[in-house]
Amino acid sequence: MPPEETNITRRGFIKAFNSLLAATGVAVILSPIIAFFWPKNLEEVPSEPVAVGPDGSISNGESKKVRYGRYPALVINLPELGLVAYSAVCTHFACIVDYNTSTHEIECPCHEGYFNSKDGSVISGPPPFPLESIPVYVEDGTIYIGGET
Ligand code: FES
Repeated sequence: MPPEETNITRRGFIKAFNSLLAATGVAVILSPIIAFFWPKNLEEVPSEPVAVGPDGSISNGESKKVRYGRYPALVINLPELGLVAYSAVCTHFACIVDYNTSTHEIECPCHEGYFNSKDGSVISGPPPFPLESIPVYVEDGTIYIGGET
C-alpha cells in the first residue's frame, strides 16, 4: 500500500513556521507593555479607599474578605474593639489567612501560623512579621478600608 501524500509543501511549512515565530516575537514584545498599562484594579495597594459594604454588614465577632488591590484583605468586627482590617496575605509564604470566630485569632492554614486579631502580631508559628494593618473607617453608612483616613 503506497503512503498517503500530504498537501503541505516544504515552502508552505517554512512560511507557516516563520509566521508563528513572528507572532511569538510580537507577543513577547507587547506583553510587558500591555502589563504596564493594565487597569488600576491590579494595583499592589489601592490608592483609593475600597468599599467593604454597608455599616453593620459584618456582625460582631465575624469577618469578611474583600479584594484590596491585587490581594485580599480581611476585615473583622472584633467583639471589644470593633472594626479592624489587615492584609489577608500571610507574611510567611503568602497563603491567605482566615479569622477563627471561636478563638478570635487569625490563622494561616498552610503552616499553622497564628496572628493576634487585635493588632496583627504573630502569636505562634513560622510567620516572621505581623500582618499588614489597613486603616478602616465608616463614612456615610459604608465601611471603607485603605486610602486617607
Ligand atoms: S504561609 Fe502562613 S504560616 Fe506559612
